[in-house]
Amino acid sequence: MSPDELLLDPPYLDMTPAQEVPPVRTIVLDRAPVAVLPQQEREALRASSSTGPERLRLEDVSIDYGAKQAVKSVSLSIHQGEVLALIGPSGCGKTTLLRTLNRLTELTPSASRAGRVLLDGEDIHELADTTLRARVAMVFQQPNPFPMSIFDNVAFALREQSRKRPRRRELEPLVVDALRRAGLYDEVADELDRPALRLSGGQQQRLCIARAIAPRPEVLLMDEPCSALDPISTSVIEKLIGELRRDLAVVVVTHNLAQAHRVADRVAFMYLGDLVEYGSTSEVFDEPRATRTRDYVRGAFG
Ligand SMILES: Nc1ncnc2c1ncn2[C@@H]1O[C@H](COP(=O)(O)OP(=O)(O)OP(=O)(O)O)[C@@H](O)[C@H]1O
Ligand SMILES: [Mg+2]
Repeated sequence: MSPDELLLDPPYLDMTPAQEVPPVRTIVLDRAPVAVLPQQEREALRASSSTGPERLRLEDVSIDYGAKQAVKSVSLSIHQGEVLALIGPSGCGKTTLLRTLNRLTELTPSASRAGRVLLDGEDIHELADTTLRARVAMVFQQPNPFPMSIFDNVAFALREQSRKRPRRRELEPLVVDALRRAGLYDEVADELDRPALRLSGGQQQRLCIARAIAPRPEVLLMDEPCSALDPISTSVIEKLIGELRRDLAVVVVTHNLAQAHRVADRVAFMYLGDLVEYGSTSEVFDEPRATRTRDYVRGAFG
């Protein structure tokens, strides 16, 4: 049937009119009606809003570089199942705070720290640094694949973790799984032995994500992971961040407020080393408590 015929002769006009008008009934409610969502929708809603256990807890964390205070007494907690976006103007301490969560800050000789960071209740300074960095993995602003094959990049962290050198056959399912979770496997399935440096920028960043998540970390730290990428690669990685948070807690530093709004469940706004605001994405963007946050999220300064 053509669209015109449909307009002239819509099928509903063929319906036989009701023979009898149904009787009018009055329903008396003794309590307010409750809207019930279909089961599927309820589950989807719960899944999207639920957060898992607390993974990281920061207690009064301060970081100084010599006499300069870069992070001032920050306390917050980070849960599995959620993406926390760290936002704030340049130099406010986002990278310093992020790098403190897997003890990279301590590699800077002038840096000193006060306060505690707990991973699953354990002080991160009690852990060996390689163990900590496998459990709290990091992805940097510039994709940084190692000058080796795609396979070996992902296998690297797995080999580092095991006592005796595992065979390729043993590693292969884990490498494939990490590449799949990073949304890269389909593009590289036939060329796992190709040099990683021949991949595009967006693919390299997803490879770095695969390398970071291969040892199944509890937390993934990302410092402006899309700032060197084109919009298409950016949207691929944003989608990936949303999927990854099911298995781990994600902390992402971004200058892109629209990105923070799209990917984050919670937002922490920093200014000159202070944690000015911390709350759900809608609280921070729609009803910020501090004037500074309001000015920043509305673009008054940056
Ligand atoms: N290695 C260092 N030595 C001395 N000072 C540092 C060092 N790294 C950072 N700083 C200072 O600490 C403060 C916080 O820097 P940080 O890199 O954490 O800021 P940021 O919020 O990540 O900035 P951006 O958005 O520009 O990346 C800045 O004043 C910076 O100059
Ligand atoms: Mg930074």
